Amino acid sequence: MKNPSRRDVVKSAAAAGSLLILPSGLRGNSPNGKICTAHVGVGGMGNSDFGSITSHPNVQVVGLCDVDPVHGKVEEKLSKHKDAQYFADYREMLAELGDKVDAVSVSTPDHTHYPATKLAMEMGKHVYTQKPLTHKLAEARHLTELAREKDLVTQMGIQVHSSVAYRLTRQWVQEGIIGKVSKVYVWSGKSWGYDGPAFDRVDPVPDQLNWNLWLGTASERDYVDRAYHPGKWRKLVDFGCGTLGDMGIHIFDTPVKALGLKDPDWVEAECREPNGIGFPEQNMMRYGFSGTDYTTDDFTFTWWDGAGAPRSGENPDLVLPEGQTLPSQGAMFVGEAGRMLLPHVGAPKFFPRSILEGAKKPDVKAANHYHQWLDAIEGKDETSAGFDYAGPLSEMLCLGVIAGNFPGKRLNWDAKNMKVTNLEAANPLITGTYRDF
Ligand SMILES: NC(=O)c1ccc[n+]([C@@H]2O[C@H](COP(=O)([O-])OP(=O)(O)OC[C@H]3O[C@@H](n4cnc5c(N)ncnc54)[C@H](O)[C@@H]3O)[C@@H](O)[C@H]2O)c1
Repeated sequence: MKNPSRRDVVKSAAAAGSLLILPSGLRGNSPNGKICTAHVGVGGMGNSDFGSITSHPNVQVVGLCDVDPVHGKVEEKLSKHKDAQYFADYREMLAELGDKVDAVSVSTPDHTHYPATKLAMEMGKHVYTQKPLTHKLAEARHLTELAREKDLVTQMGIQVHSSVAYRLTRQWVQEGIIGKVSKVYVWSGKSWGYDGPAFDRVDPVPDQLNWNLWLGTASERDYVDRAYHPGKWRKLVDFGCGTLGDMGIHIFDTPVKALGLKDPDWVEAECREPNGIGFPEQNMMRYGFSGTDYTTDDFTFTWWDGAGAPRSGENPDLVLPEGQTLPSQGAMFVGEAGRMLLPHVGAPKFFPRSILEGAKKPDVKAANHYHQWLDAIEGKDETSAGFDYAGPLSEMLCLGVIAGNFPGKRLNWDAKNMKVTNLEAANPLITGTYRDF
């Protein structure tokens, strides 16, 4: 009989509802059957992810990794998690802690999601990775396959997916509250783009930042203050996915899940020409999907971002009754029986209001997106944004990013073969290139 893995031991301890004393040296060093976690990127959203993961009663932190321990508030975290060790390099952390780690969270800038998550998964760790799952489309495909192959518990960081409003909306749509849906409009008035010139300064790297590790697999360049770190990287094509990756992934989620949308057949963008530096500050993307049980056959899906979004003009689908305004971010579903507006984040509104009268309110409760992942590791729950779902969702976003490089051109997509079939120049953008660092 093969030796039980740490995962089996954690699961069976949880199932028995007990704290288990592991024979010392079996796998890992946790004395009590807890889920031992390591965290890559613990500043910004990573700080919040860390708090949410460690609020689970059965977690023990063993590793903390950040290339900027000041931004990551590492000292404060170490003072509360006395058994944890700090590393600047996630490769060293995983190599050194090895079997002591059960599960890894990755909350770095987008370009590091793939190398860090892949390494953790290859070592058999369960992973919670921030959205969008990856920077390049092929990377999302690979992580989805890896999760399946290794039978790992995965979750992508779209925590609003688990909110009552979003769960309720999904159920209502599937119960046909607005009939079959013919159009979805999704938008964010945020602008994570940069139309400016190339950076022509070189600034000193702050003492606390390891710039080489921050760049990771991305090509080498000089540090420029307030251009990349923290947070600004999402505007730049080598590191982020623009507004589509920042907000689109959250806002696409409900229509995609509720309507059962699968890989798009095509995508086209309206935006400025690419400049190789930043994402366009304003974008429109149209996607073509095959109809599903919840849509009409002529279903259309449109995204806007940047100042002025949604660019609704006189579009009657987006006109609201007197005195009401569209939220700055959200989705409008146009169905055979009426429209549903889902603000990001909030409860859905129906037009006409009578749609809701007499509608049965499904018995839906909020889930804790983070605890769901940890409970699933213990075999007590299932994740609802595991990579089986989050991988294809991220691919849709990455395909939109690719289309933004060819404004005005419709890209026909062969998802099975991961290929744009009518524009060869688009295909090199599906995969990444990786620097040794
Ligand atoms: N789910 C959400 O609501 C939500 C909200 C904000 C951000 N995010 C996601 O969280 C991720 C981080 O975004 P942010 O706004 O916090 O960025 P940020 O730049 O503020 O923070 C990133 C953190 O990762 C650290 N880091 C960078 N490279 C690293 C590396 N190679 N190894 C270890 N640590 C590294 C940085 O020092 C910093 O502490 C992104 O993927 C973003 O899309 C999600």
